[in-house]
Amino acid sequence: MWKDHLLTAKQLSRGDVETVLDRAGEIAADPEAVRGRLDGRLLGLLFFEPSTRTKMSFETAAKRLGGGVVDMGSVESSSVKKGESLADTVRVIEGYADALVLRHPSQGAATMASEFVDVPIINAGDGAGHHPTQTLLDLYTIRETAGLDGLSIGIMGDLKYGRTVHSLAHALTNFDVHQHFVSPESLRLPRSVRYDLHQAGANVREHEDLSAVLPTLDVLYVTRIQRERFPDENEYHAIAGEYRIDADVLADAPEDLAIMHPLPRVDEIAPEVDETAHARYFEQAHNGVPVRMALLDLMLP
Ligand code: NCD
Repeated sequence: MWKDHLLTAKQLSRGDVETVLDRAGEIAADPEAVRGRLDGRLLGLLFFEPSTRTKMSFETAAKRLGGGVVDMGSVESSSVKKGESLADTVRVIEGYADALVLRHPSQGAATMASEFVDVPIINAGDGAGHHPTQTLLDLYTIRETAGLDGLSIGIMGDLKYGRTVHSLAHALTNFDVHQHFVSPESLRLPRSVRYDLHQAGANVREHEDLSAVLPTLDVLYVTRIQRERFPDENEYHAIAGEYRIDADVLADAPEDLAIMHPLPRVDEIAPEVDETAHARYFEQAHNGVPVRMALLDLMLP
């Protein structure tokens, strides 16, 4: 297992991923076995960006393990508003909590914060950087659905700013999978991520058009265009809605194609898809609880 902090998916070996997913599977099968595991422990929640699933599922996980949370609340109501630095904020809150979960708009924020504290820091999203705990629940869902080797996985949408994509792509290099990246040219994977995937010997192809590759896929991971990270609103409008999954698109999909999405979705997946056997995104979001329970169980002494 990794030491101390969970900062990017790059630090996850195949063994690490399997350890977390196996533990999550055990917890999902028998939640009673970990009742009271975090008795008297507190998890600090520091969310400098909006969150529904990540924050609530960490809170649920901590409470289901018998622990509690201390929540910084919104940036608007915290001393961040008075100009406090992130380094000072985490140094203070480490005195209140046994581990910190941090989401921040700046890439590298969790790594920077980890240099100032001794308690474990879990990166819950750093700008357009990484989101490793999302990746673990994505991999858990993929493994439940189709196993994790010998797969062809399409990853579509905002590959440039999408941190869930960057983390998932890195973590998948541990497995025998073909990764097909589908996006407009302007939202291609960043060069640094492409370089890392190449260095890791990943089997990667890039496409601008989903139709050519759709019939070969086992999993299609759809992502939201990250509007909040677009420097130019016009550029956002030019692209939003272009890469959308609906019943027509699915006419050419394999029968057992699993469609995933980290959520929230905006228009990328039409509501009619929810009723099909392809839809896995709500189950995926629910898997955040056992996976984050497993992480807290493994990371907290
Ligand atoms: C994602 C995120 O915050 O990066 N949400 C999540 O944690 N499930 C995806 C997104 O916001 O598009």
